[in-house]
Amino acid sequence: MKTEKTTVGTIGKDVLAFTAGRDVELDINLIHSDCIGTAAHITMLSEMMPPVITKPERTKIICELKKIIALATSGDFEIRLSDQDVHLAVERTLTSTLGDLGKKIHTCRSRNDQVALDLRLYAREEILATIEEACGLISALLAFGETHKKVPMVGRTHMQPGMPSSVGLWASAHAESLLDDCELLISAYELNDQSPLGSAASYGVPLEIDRELVSDLLGFHCPVHNVLYANNSRGKNESIILGAMSQVMLSLSRMAQDLMLFTMPEFGYFTLPDELTTGSSIMPQKKNPDVIELVRARASKVKAYELAVYDLIKGSPSGYNRDLQDAKEPFMDGIATTRSCLRVLAPFIEAIKVNEKALIAGFTPDVFATDRALELVGEGMAFRDAYHHVKENLDELETMSPAEAISKKTHLGAPLGIDWTLLNERADAVLGVVDDERTTIAAAVETLFSV
Ligand code: ARG
Repeated sequence: MKTEKTTVGTIGKDVLAFTAGRDVELDINLIHSDCIGTAAHITMLSEMMPPVITKPERTKIICELKKIIALATSGDFEIRLSDQDVHLAVERTLTSTLGDLGKKIHTCRSRNDQVALDLRLYAREEILATIEEACGLISALLAFGETHKKVPMVGRTHMQPGMPSSVGLWASAHAESLLDDCELLISAYELNDQSPLGSAASYGVPLEIDRELVSDLLGFHCPVHNVLYANNSRGKNESIILGAMSQVMLSLSRMAQDLMLFTMPEFGYFTLPDELTTGSSIMPQKKNPDVIELVRARASKVKAYELAVYDLIKGSPSGYNRDLQDAKEPFMDGIATTRSCLRVLAPFIEAIKVNEKALIAGFTPDVFATDRALELVGEGMAFRDAYHHVKENLDELETMSPAEAISKKTHLGAPLGIDWTLLNERADAVLGVVDDERTTIAAAVETLFSV
């Protein structure tokens, strides 16, 4: 059997390739996080009594970590198969530049808590970016909705014509859905905002390490308290985050489906500019809405990723199990997929052309049936009597002015009762959370690396 020498022993070549799996590529996304985590860990080791590493040694390690970060930024830091993953690649690099000092960085730490930490550091950046991109789409929807707030649109239930509505109501409904999703993302962020480092292999270490200090140095809200849970939360944390991502995708998918219908020539409510559509290789006239079809497809994909991670851990016993490694790919791709959908849709909404004529042409007399019944209520009739009266005389319904019909719907949240300021303020508050968190993180990382 062909074998390979690694930092942690000699392993069969095939076993090495099989067990490392896609880590060698995926861990490129974690180099930055791994260096930040290591910087905090060795800083804590240098504060111990007696210190595991001295202050000048700490400075040397921090300088080398900075070099690794610079290499990673230019795409030049190499994770070899013999490293298995980013953690051992960083340790190999530090040992080759710092000699025996490099061998000390793993004191009181396991790759298990290290990868759990790296994923949380990675996730906090990704969640903040997702929220920011969601706010980009929310503001596009709110701007679009407010511009067309008085443009009538038939409101549907069961896909059948129902009652007079407006383009503004449609657009702000999708914006509000995404605002709720942002709250979910913030909740996921808060759960993620706990440091698992120092939990080592799940059972603590017989030295007085300061897990609180590590958490503070990294700008986390607090450490995960129980060291076993710190490791058990790997996978669970990813599944919670993917749950929030899949809610975002649910909102996007519903909006995409509406857009597919409303841009069909039979509806013609909205038109997509040519550059947002794709053609056919055989039918010269085609302008297909592939973007929104793929958003719909990717909602299924992100949900499948969430379920994949859930399924992976639901039968996993306590403590680290290698199964967890396979949650990395769905986790990272699930986030990347959600983010790309948010990014592609914001300019899409901005570019939609609204065809008021077609929207108004959709108003057949039956769309006013409920309004007519409620008009009779205003004249003193009991609602059920008014309902039956209109139902029995549907052919007598007259086409009212759609604009006039919606102008009467002014109560809270109705077509002309949308509080655009409130919705915009909610988006601003969400962005405020992102800003505050970014400031905390940046300050922590800057302090950690200032030597
Ligand atoms: N690459 C591994 C993972 O993602 C790191 C942890 C390996 N730990 C171990 N005990 N083999 O899970």
